[in-house]
Amino acid sequence: MQKLIINGGKKLSGEIRIQGAKNAALPIMAASVLCGEEIILHNCPRISDVYAAMRILTYLGCKAGFAEKNTAVLRAENVTETSISDELMREMRSSVFFLGAVLGRTGKCRITLPGGCDLGPRPIDMHLAALRRMGVTIKEEYGVLDCTAENGLKGANITLSFPSVGTTENIMLAAVLAEGTTVIQNAAREPEIADLAELLTSCGAKISGAGCGRIVIKGVKKLHGCEYSIMPDRIVCATYLSCAASAGGDIVVSDCRPSDMESILSIFEQMGCIVHSSADKIYFSAGRPLKAVSPVRTMVYPGFPTDAQAVVMAVLCRAKGTSVFVENIFENRFKHTGELCRMGADILVEGKTAVVKGVDRLYGAKICASDLRGGAGLVSAALSAEGTSEISNIHYIDRGYEEIETILSSAGADIIRV
Ligand code: EPU
Repeated sequence: MQKLIINGGKKLSGEIRIQGAKNAALPIMAASVLCGEEIILHNCPRISDVYAAMRILTYLGCKAGFAEKNTAVLRAENVTETSISDELMREMRSSVFFLGAVLGRTGKCRITLPGGCDLGPRPIDMHLAALRRMGVTIKEEYGVLDCTAENGLKGANITLSFPSVGTTENIMLAAVLAEGTTVIQNAAREPEIADLAELLTSCGAKISGAGCGRIVIKGVKKLHGCEYSIMPDRIVCATYLSCAASAGGDIVVSDCRPSDMESILSIFEQMGCIVHSSADKIYFSAGRPLKAVSPVRTMVYPGFPTDAQAVVMAVLCRAKGTSVFVENIFENRFKHTGELCRMGADILVEGKTAVVKGVDRLYGAKICASDLRGGAGLVSAALSAEGTSEISNIHYIDRGYEEIETILSSAGADIIRV
């Protein structure tokens, strides 16, 4: 089993380029099923979730692979299979996007429940309710969901009870080739949704309002191929800022989109870090001493993202004063706190609240990643700790971060993978 070994206390410097966004790449890869022609995707991150999506595409009879460093080529001329194996479904949560896409292309799809990081219950009831409104019959037996749109998918008016990211994307995928118009009210507004809409529009789909609370999709008969560049990953960007804030030093983060990250950047500023942004770069100096911040409440976009909670908490473990986190999106997203306490952090978790009292120093320890972003938070904490940390279960980190150890060591960190 691979581990990351980190000797803390080395300041970071230099430039870090931000990879393409996982949470845009995955629904976009599912969207390729809807197009009968080639899609060339630039800025596609080489992370394990992207490889899992490629395995699903291959299973469905499509062609998917990297042509060069970060350019993927996807071809779905033939979709020969409409069911996805339980093994593939369990590999990640985003396997559920293939439901909307395969239904949109073929009118039927059989799946089991998706897997993914354990952040508490992650039902797909809203996805299924929306598809039913679009004319899909769903039979559920022995954990298998057999979905059919006998008379084809039909546009519908769908109001979400909560602006779920995945549900919004799945409806968009199902709706682009459906008959008639679909309107999603109370849609999620995350920037990755606008990125999916932009890819689909480049293939000939008719979508307006993506990135706003009301999205209108007019069904078209056919989609064509395109060449597209995936947006930068705002959570990976937040992670490298967290690493610099923890370790100390000055970095420039390039190929990012600071305008998508205001709620995150303002927290780093409150900590005392200096943040200057241009359209696609962030010039960042770690603050010293770090200061506690006003309560961080995770919310849907444009609020503070749940995915950045762990990496920001990692920094605040060593800030002067007490910071409070309220996790409003997932029920069980504080698993990293136990590991941070092994490093000397002082964190009390009560339900959906974590109270972090800043301590003077963290110590290197043997710690274990329990999910993707929690694992990234441990990396950030280890960079600031005295002594050596050994992080296990790093397959979670590899789901979303491309060569994290190479990027951090080129910025001056002492980190290796063994
Ligand atoms: N929910 C339901 N029923 C549903 C769908 C969602 O109850 O049918 C609940 C969830 O259980 C959760 C809340 O609604 O409590 C939010 O879920 P949402 O559907 O918005 O999230 P998701 O689509 O499962 C995406 C990201 C997550 C990110 C969340 C929130 C992708 C591939 N995943 O998940 O990313 O945390 O939105 O922003 O886009 C990560 O990258 O580490 C990650 C977990």
